[in-house]
Amino acid sequence: MTKRLIIVLCVSFLAAGCGGNSTNQKPSADTALADSNAAAKTPESAMENSNTISIMTSTDEGATLIVKNDCRNCHKEREKLIGPAFSDIAKRYGHYDIDSLAAKIIKGGSGHWGDAAMSPHPSLSITDARVIVRFILKYK
Ligand code: HEC
Repeated sequence: MTKRLIIVLCVSFLAAGCGGNSTNQKPSADTALADSNAAAKTPESAMENSNTISIMTSTDEGATLIVKNDCRNCHKEREKLIGPAFSDIAKRYGHYDIDSLAAKIIKGGSGHWGDAAMSPHPSLSITDARVIVRFILKYK
Protein backbone atom coordinates (compact mmCIF):
# COMPACT_ATOMS: atom_id res chain seq x y z
CA MET A 1 0.00 0.00 0.00
CA THR A 2 2.80 2.39 0.93
CA LYS A 3 4.70 1.44 -2.20
CA ARG A 4 1.71 2.33 -4.31
CA LEU A 5 1.36 5.66 -2.53
CA ILE A 6 5.01 6.43 -3.21
CA ILE A 7 4.56 5.58 -6.88
CA VAL A 8 1.48 7.80 -7.06
CA LEU A 9 3.36 10.61 -5.39
CA CYS A 10 6.31 10.15 -7.77
CA VAL A 11 4.07 10.18 -10.81
CA SER A 12 2.24 13.30 -9.72
CA PHE A 13 5.56 14.93 -8.90
CA LEU A 14 6.85 14.13 -12.39
CA ALA A 15 3.64 15.38 -13.94
CA ALA A 16 3.93 18.62 -11.99
CA GLY A 17 7.55 18.84 -13.13
CA CYS A 18 6.48 18.51 -16.71
CA GLY A 19 3.78 21.11 -16.28
CA GLY A 20 6.33 23.45 -14.78
CA ASN A 21 8.65 22.95 -17.69
CA SER A 22 6.05 23.56 -20.30
CA THR A 23 5.35 27.03 -18.92
CA ASN A 24 9.05 27.74 -19.49
CA GLN A 25 8.78 26.63 -23.07
CA LYS A 26 7.01 29.75 -24.28
CA PRO A 27 8.67 30.76 -27.54
CA SER A 28 11.19 33.51 -26.89
CA ALA A 29 11.17 36.66 -29.00
CA ASP A 30 14.00 35.09 -31.02
CA THR A 31 12.06 31.99 -31.90
CA ALA A 32 9.03 34.08 -32.80
CA LEU A 33 11.20 36.17 -35.12
CA ALA A 34 12.73 33.05 -36.66
CA ASP A 35 9.21 31.73 -37.19
CA SER A 36 8.04 34.82 -39.01
CA ASN A 37 11.18 34.79 -41.18
CA ALA A 38 10.49 31.19 -41.99
CA ALA A 39 6.96 32.15 -42.97
CA ALA A 40 8.27 34.90 -45.23
CA LYS A 41 10.59 32.46 -46.98
CA THR A 42 8.10 29.63 -47.27
CA PRO A 43 6.87 29.73 -50.83
CA GLU A 44 3.42 28.43 -49.91
CA SER A 45 0.81 31.05 -50.68
CA ALA A 46 -1.14 29.68 -47.72
CA MET A 47 1.58 31.07 -45.43
CA GLU A 48 1.31 34.57 -46.86
CA ASN A 49 -0.26 37.42 -44.98
CA SER A 50 -0.34 41.16 -45.52
CA ASN A 51 2.99 41.67 -43.72
CA THR A 52 5.10 38.99 -45.34
CA ILE A 53 3.61 38.85 -48.81
CA SER A 54 6.03 39.79 -51.57
CA ILE A 55 5.86 39.73 -55.34
CA MET A 56 9.43 38.49 -55.50
CA THR A 57 9.01 35.46 -53.23
CA SER A 58 5.37 34.57 -53.81
CA THR A 59 4.52 31.53 -55.91
CA ASP A 60 1.04 32.96 -56.50
CA GLU A 61 0.24 33.14 -60.21
CA GLY A 62 -0.91 36.72 -59.66
CA ALA A 63 2.61 37.69 -58.55
CA THR A 64 4.10 36.05 -61.64
CA LEU A 65 1.68 37.95 -63.88
CA ILE A 66 2.54 41.25 -62.21
CA VAL A 67 6.24 40.62 -62.81
CA LYS A 68 5.58 39.68 -66.47
CA ASN A 69 3.52 42.83 -67.10
CA ASP A 70 4.44 46.48 -66.64
CA CYS A 71 2.55 46.95 -63.36
CA ARG A 72 5.68 47.66 -61.33
CA ASN A 73 6.52 50.68 -63.49
CA CYS A 74 3.67 52.44 -61.70
CA HIS A 75 2.85 50.36 -58.62
CA LYS A 76 4.81 49.39 -55.53
CA GLU A 77 3.64 46.91 -52.94
CA ARG A 78 3.38 49.20 -49.94
CA GLU A 79 4.11 52.72 -51.22
CA LYS A 80 2.42 54.99 -53.70
CA LEU A 81 4.31 55.43 -56.97
CA ILE A 82 2.43 56.78 -60.02
CA GLY A 83 -0.43 54.49 -59.09
CA PRO A 84 -1.65 53.59 -55.61
CA ALA A 85 0.22 51.03 -53.44
CA PHE A 86 -1.16 47.49 -53.64
CA SER A 87 -1.69 47.67 -49.87
CA ASP A 88 -3.89 50.78 -50.30
CA ILE A 89 -5.87 49.13 -53.09
CA ALA A 90 -6.37 46.08 -50.87
CA LYS A 91 -7.62 48.27 -48.02
CA ARG A 92 -10.10 50.13 -50.19
CA TYR A 93 -11.61 47.18 -52.04
CA GLY A 94 -13.00 43.76 -51.21
CA HIS A 95 -13.99 40.52 -52.83
CA TYR A 96 -17.01 42.04 -54.58
CA ASP A 97 -14.76 44.41 -56.53
CA ILE A 98 -12.63 41.73 -58.23
CA ASP A 99 -14.51 41.91 -61.53
CA SER A 100 -14.63 45.69 -61.77
CA LEU A 101 -10.95 46.04 -60.83
CA ALA A 102 -9.95 43.37 -63.36
CA ALA A 103 -11.90 45.26 -66.04
CA LYS A 104 -10.25 48.53 -65.01
CA ILE A 105 -6.75 47.02 -65.37
CA ILE A 106 -7.61 45.97 -68.93
CA LYS A 107 -9.27 49.28 -69.87
CA GLY A 108 -7.01 51.60 -67.88
CA GLY A 109 -8.30 54.91 -66.59
CA SER A 110 -8.18 57.46 -63.81
CA GLY A 111 -10.37 59.23 -61.30
CA HIS A 112 -10.47 56.84 -58.36
CA TRP A 113 -7.16 57.86 -56.85
CA GLY A 114 -6.40 61.15 -58.54
CA ASP A 115 -5.64 62.52 -61.98
CA ALA A 116 -2.91 60.07 -62.97
CA ALA A 117 -4.14 57.45 -65.41
CA MET A 118 -3.41 53.76 -65.65
CA SER A 119 -2.47 52.64 -69.12
CA PRO A 120 -4.76 50.03 -70.70
CA HIS A 121 -3.66 46.37 -70.80
CA PRO A 122 -5.68 44.94 -73.70
CA SER A 123 -3.48 41.86 -74.07
CA LEU A 124 -4.32 40.74 -70.52
CA SER A 125 -7.20 38.22 -70.36
CA ILE A 126 -10.01 38.89 -67.89
CA THR A 127 -9.10 35.60 -66.17
CA ASP A 128 -5.49 36.66 -65.66
CA ALA A 129 -6.59 40.13 -64.54
CA ARG A 130 -8.84 38.53 -61.90
CA VAL A 131 -5.94 36.36 -60.70
CA ILE A 132 -3.83 39.52 -60.32
CA VAL A 133 -6.57 41.37 -58.43
CA ARG A 134 -7.05 38.45 -56.02
CA PHE A 135 -3.33 38.57 -55.32
CA ILE A 136 -3.32 42.37 -54.81
CA LEU A 137 -6.22 42.07 -52.35
CA LYS A 138 -4.00 39.91 -50.11
CA TYR A 139 -2.07 43.08 -49.13
CA LYS A 140 -4.86 44.10 -46.72
C1 HEC B 1 1.23 53.91 -66.44
C2 HEC B 1 1.20 53.58 -65.04
C3 HEC B 1 0.45 52.32 -64.62
C4 HEC B 1 0.67 51.02 -65.02
C5 HEC B 1 1.69 50.52 -66.02
C6 HEC B 1 -0.25 50.22 -64.24
N1 HEC B 1 -1.02 51.00 -63.43
FE1 HEC B 1 -2.49 50.36 -62.18
N2 HEC B 1 -2.94 52.28 -61.76
C7 HEC B 1 -2.24 53.40 -62.19
C8 HEC B 1 -2.89 54.59 -61.72
C9 HEC B 1 -2.45 56.02 -61.97
C10 HEC B 1 -4.02 54.16 -60.99
C11 HEC B 1 -5.09 55.00 -60.31
C12 HEC B 1 -6.25 55.12 -61.30
C13 HEC B 1 -7.41 55.90 -60.75
O1 HEC B 1 -7.20 56.88 -60.04
O2 HEC B 1 -8.55 55.50 -61.05
C14 HEC B 1 -4.00 52.70 -61.01
C15 HEC B 1 -4.94 51.91 -60.38
C16 HEC B 1 -4.88 50.55 -60.31
C17 HEC B 1 -5.81 49.71 -59.58
C18 HEC B 1 -7.02 50.22 -58.79
C19 HEC B 1 -8.09 50.65 -59.77
C20 HEC B 1 -9.21 51.44 -59.16
O3 HEC B 1 -10.18 51.71 -59.89
O4 HEC B 1 -9.15 51.82 -57.98
C21 HEC B 1 -5.41 48.43 -59.76
C22 HEC B 1 -6.07 47.19 -59.21
C23 HEC B 1 -4.23 48.45 -60.60
N3 HEC B 1 -3.94 49.75 -60.92
C24 HEC B 1 -3.53 47.35 -61.00
C25 HEC B 1 -2.55 47.39 -62.00
C26 HEC B 1 -1.97 46.19 -62.58
C27 HEC B 1 -2.29 44.78 -62.17
C28 HEC B 1 -1.08 46.61 -63.53
C29 HEC B 1 -0.25 45.74 -64.47
C30 HEC B 1 -0.99 44.85 -65.33
C31 HEC B 1 -1.11 48.06 -63.52
N4 HEC B 1 -2.01 48.48 -62.58
C32 HEC B 1 -0.33 48.84 -64.34
C33 HEC B 1 -1.12 53.39 -62.98
C34 HEC B 1 -0.61 52.29 -63.64
